[in-house]
Amino acid sequence: MTPVASENAMKKGLLIYSSNYGSTAEVAYWIKAIIGLDQSLDVKKIEQVVTVAPYDYVIIGSSTKTEKPLPGIYKFVEVFKEELVKKQIAYFLVCGDWDETMVLNVPGKKPHLIAGRNYLYDIQKKFPEIKPTVIGGFGGRQVMPALDGFDAFTIWILEKLAKEGCGWVGLDIWESLVPERVEAFGNEVRTKILGLEPLIDVEKYRSFWMSQQPGSLADQAKQKYPFRPYTIKTSTAKIYFSRSRIKSNLDGTVALLHVWAQQEGFELRVQRETFFNVYYHAVKTIENKEKTIHIVAAVMTDDPGNVHVSLRSWEKPDVRKPLEEAIGKAEKVLWADGRKIEGR
Ligand SMILES: Cc1cc2nc3c(=O)[nH]c(=O)nc-3n(C[C@H](O)[C@H](O)[C@H](O)COP(=O)(O)O)c2cc1C
Repeated sequence: MTPVASENAMKKGLLIYSSNYGSTAEVAYWIKAIIGLDQSLDVKKIEQVVTVAPYDYVIIGSSTKTEKPLPGIYKFVEVFKEELVKKQIAYFLVCGDWDETMVLNVPGKKPHLIAGRNYLYDIQKKFPEIKPTVIGGFGGRQVMPALDGFDAFTIWILEKLAKEGCGWVGLDIWESLVPERVEAFGNEVRTKILGLEPLIDVEKYRSFWMSQQPGSLADQAKQKYPFRPYTIKTSTAKIYFSRSRIKSNLDGTVALLHVWAQQEGFELRVQRETFFNVYYHAVKTIENKEKTIHIVAAVMTDDPGNVHVSLRSWEKPDVRKPLEEAIGKAEKVLWADGRKIEGR
């Protein structure tokens, strides 16, 4: 008699990953543990995969290079596209920057969204027929002495060009991974793909990531996990920047930004809208010149129930006073009625 697959038959999964320096591999096995060692989930380096046919779902993981998954990931999706469209898919990335309210401004490019799940925008645009059930962007690890010559040079150049500066300057090991995001991702795969309960004591698997390496070999005083705060206010020659978080949802925050824009005479021009963030240019003509405040509001799986908002102006200090005042007013509107969350 031919066996009939019961509705409750265990789904068969494949997790493929592409990693240059190893951190994506650590995360891959961490995710496997969260999903459950009793689950049928093969973990394979991308080069080992010859077919995806036997699997019900495929998790595609990569490190980030120049704001995208590695080229092998694009090739993998292209080669197996016909099969992948029939399956449930999840994408995850490890990367240098976790902050999905981040806008990168480097010479020769329009300021644009970077970090975390923003790096999965390009591959989803290239392969719109593949609709992932879950996506994650976790942060990662950069071990400076391990980088090959060209990569070390690329990182050095970026550090020089980025108008807001870079967090890894002077560090041997730059850590940015947010463990709660890996855990939320693993639990989303459990609930949304496998129909399981979320793993409650999910923190028990952090040992997959916590190696004994010091945070910085050059300066032992530096902690392994530099705690980049959620709340930041910066005023330098290059930037006026405010980042904070409020108790709200994305729709509520967008409504508040529209109230502020109308009060202050700014036009909000949408640059990008996703299920987890929205990026606006708030534009106003001041002394016959169009001036822009870059605003991003984002929800993050590591901080459920709250919205993170960043406001930036890259105008020079002598002309940006009206923009600084407008940012102050936006903060007032966003933070009113006890919405502002202090700390971190
Ligand atoms: C040459 C190079 C380019 C990178 N480009 C980016 C980038 O555009 N955005 C980002 O957030 N992280 C970037 N990173 C950081 C890596 O994605 C991060 O260190 C990741 O944890 C590396 O994963 P792996 O150890 O699996 O290779 C880059 C790293 C290198 C060496």
